[in-house]
Amino acid sequence: MEKTIDQICADALKEIETAKSKDSLNAVSLKYLSRKGIVTQFLRSISKLPPEERPKAGERANETKRLLEKAVEDAINSLDARSPAADSFIDVSLPGRSALPGSLHPITQITRQICDIFTRMGFDIAEGPEVESDYYNFEALNIPKYHPARDMQDTFYVSDNIVLRTHTSPIQVRVMEKRKPPLKVIAPGKVYRSDSDITHTPMFHQVEGLMVGENISFGNLKGILSNFVHLMFDEKTSLRFRPSFFPFTEPSAEVDILCVMCRGKGCRVCSHTGWLEVLGAGMVHPAVFENVGYDTSRITGFAFGMGVERITMLKYGIDDIRKFFENDFRFLRQF
Ligand code: DAH
Repeated sequence: MEKTIDQICADALKEIETAKSKDSLNAVSLKYLSRKGIVTQFLRSISKLPPEERPKAGERANETKRLLEKAVEDAINSLDARSPAADSFIDVSLPGRSALPGSLHPITQITRQICDIFTRMGFDIAEGPEVESDYYNFEALNIPKYHPARDMQDTFYVSDNIVLRTHTSPIQVRVMEKRKPPLKVIAPGKVYRSDSDITHTPMFHQVEGLMVGENISFGNLKGILSNFVHLMFDEKTSLRFRPSFFPFTEPSAEVDILCVMCRGKGCRVCSHTGWLEVLGAGMVHPAVFENVGYDTSRITGFAFGMGVERITMLKYGIDDIRKFFENDFRFLRQF
């Protein structure tokens, strides 16, 4: 009799040891320990033994039952403890999943290119706050309150006298307050306007330029900007200066470049004019110099401002500004 229960125990332990999954362990448990299981049946059969053999056999069978229950439980726990990956989910022959290398956003790349071109021409880089006072964003740039020019830019107001800067031009004023002429600075940064369509986003990027000193002329402005356009696009990209108006420059100009798509023949991108507007510029208005305490009888200078998204769209033939802000890898990976 004892041999038999020992044999049952040995068989069950072997089956538990070779079971690889919870299902097969449950099946072993069912086979030996359930109501109709082998061990249970064995326990029942003890009543048929001669009375003197019953206690020993019963003790032995109950011991076996506890031992097997514990063995099944331990085997299930050790399966749970293993990571699912170790269980068969991993195919070690598959190639690994590589992490994509990151890259600079096209706007960052072009901002850096623009700054590089100007720093090679001797310009210093300056920066200023994005949350700006009404004074620097408007007043000091000769745009008083209620001046119609304020309508040109849909301003986000933080409070009565604090705005999100609508352009990088306030950096001109901040730089001139701190430094004496001569100076040449380039100022990149984010700007904000309440505007949104395929060519406008509420936040975009500008680069401002300022050169101030004695005998600085419109000729210097033309020379610096031509050099910039030739380096940014190519030597064949000619420029055109159109008279315009900005409150902080006089005279003012808008600068067009020969259409980079059709080379002046006329196409959809340039609205069949052959030209593309790329920046605003002009000679710094004496009122701005007075606001920073510069001597207007001696000092002149020029300023310009350009949109980085616009330059990037023209350089790469991108037709929707919103693509820059959607973070779609299929778009971003191309740069
Ligand atoms: N601040 C102008 C704008 O955002 C751009 C501009 C025009 C900047 C002429 C200048 C300038 O410095 O001289 O539309």
